[in-house]
Amino acid sequence: MTNQLDKKAQAWSALFSEPMSELVKRYTSSVFFDKRLWQADIRGSLAHADMLAAQGIISAQDLADIERGMAQIGADIEAGNFEWKLDLEDVHLNIEARLTQLVGDAGKRMHTGRSRNDQVATDVRLWLRGELDLIADLLAALQKALLEVAAQHTQTILPGFTHLQVAQPVSFAHHLLAYVEMFARDAERMREVRARTNHLPLGSAALAGTSYPLDRERVARSLGMVDAQGVPQLCRNSLDAVSDRDFAMEFAAAASICMVHISRLSEELVLWMSQNFGFIRLADRFTTGSSIMPQKKNPDVPELARGKTGRVVGHLMGLLTLMKGQPLAYNKDNQEDKEPLFDTVDTLTDTLRIFAEMIGGQPDPQTGQLTGGLTVNSDAMRSAAARGYATATDLADYLVKKGLAFRDAHEVMAHPVNSAQGAGKDLSELPLATLQSFHAAIEADVFDCLSLQGSLDARNTIGGTAPERVLQEIALHRQRLG
Ligand code: ARG
Repeated sequence: MTNQLDKKAQAWSALFSEPMSELVKRYTSSVFFDKRLWQADIRGSLAHADMLAAQGIISAQDLADIERGMAQIGADIEAGNFEWKLDLEDVHLNIEARLTQLVGDAGKRMHTGRSRNDQVATDVRLWLRGELDLIADLLAALQKALLEVAAQHTQTILPGFTHLQVAQPVSFAHHLLAYVEMFARDAERMREVRARTNHLPLGSAALAGTSYPLDRERVARSLGMVDAQGVPQLCRNSLDAVSDRDFAMEFAAAASICMVHISRLSEELVLWMSQNFGFIRLADRFTTGSSIMPQKKNPDVPELARGKTGRVVGHLMGLLTLMKGQPLAYNKDNQEDKEPLFDTVDTLTDTLRIFAEMIGGQPDPQTGQLTGGLTVNSDAMRSAAARGYATATDLADYLVKKGLAFRDAHEVMAHPVNSAQGAGKDLSELPLATLQSFHAAIEADVFDCLSLQGSLDARNTIGGTAPERVLQEIALHRQRLG
């Protein structure tokens, strides 16, 4: 039996006067990267074949043959025994050709009512859906790692910065919870992308739909492309179905935002780890030494994560640009969606994994306790907060409570800060008499609010840094994450 697909050049030869050159074959083929879609491809084909049989378009025997052949192909690929052929261009044609080789005519009937255009769109969606589920789990693990550290540091005070100038004291837990909020929004974005990715293109065929009586809803159900109520989610316009890559762009955008969050955290870890801050240490396995400067420990992992953010943002730009000039419907341009998507997923998942471990540590095999996460130098944090007049706002607030208008209180405050700076002291170290010389309303209780602790405790609104609040937030996050 001749396998048409195995002789693709000949299969088209009625129309073509010369075979494809080797260079063009290599240029146009995608199999060496899109073979990564093999599981989704087989799953999509089986759902399609099952529906063809249910609709009486192929026989029950054909379906049984297809299932048998696909089981073998899957096992061969998994075992590394599948021969991927460049001549067969992509993952779809490779699998189909092998199926026909294994089971004969049933293999040739599998593509009835289908085109590679709706097939590839389905495969990419199915594959990405699985990766989005993994990313959701990794984001949850990272949030839990941050919460673990935060729970131990609701009383650890460090300077909060604006413009990288000491602004007001905050707790380290509060600071970490800012990132938990960011990653929680990232997870929500990923869930939304998943919902829109989980729509079925199959049944759209090449671009216009098909004349076979397909049951698209059955296919959607068997692929789990349903909403929360179990209603099948179909792409409802065939032209759009085969050419839309919104889900890929949207995912790359969500991944870019998430990497930007990681990158901001990385920048802070790098700063905090420098000798000038000395706020934290990363476990040695996340750092490297210098070949010539023995004293150095370089925060390679956060630096690299900051660098890899550029690569993911680049993939977003690549995908947007890939789509911008394409007329309806499918164009070969779309084959270029895969490498940026694959690399985005790999970069993001690796980064999330490594950050969860770098911050939270890894479970001890004996006790299950997390060890080897971030080491916090609370003393260095506190003395940095004490150095920068971080409680100046509190003194202004104190005067407001004594009846001054806020703007006037703010005005008065410039003087004590000046005076403390001149004396090389913190505000809380100025004698009461000196403070009183700036405003008569100042009394001995002023020192309660000038301390770092007093400043922290006072910020007790929802979203504030007061330890009591932060503990509540930690509990809420833990409840959300289960
Ligand atoms: N490898 C192709 C892709 O990734 C599959 C679809 C090919 N369709 C076509 N009409 N040439 O987009």
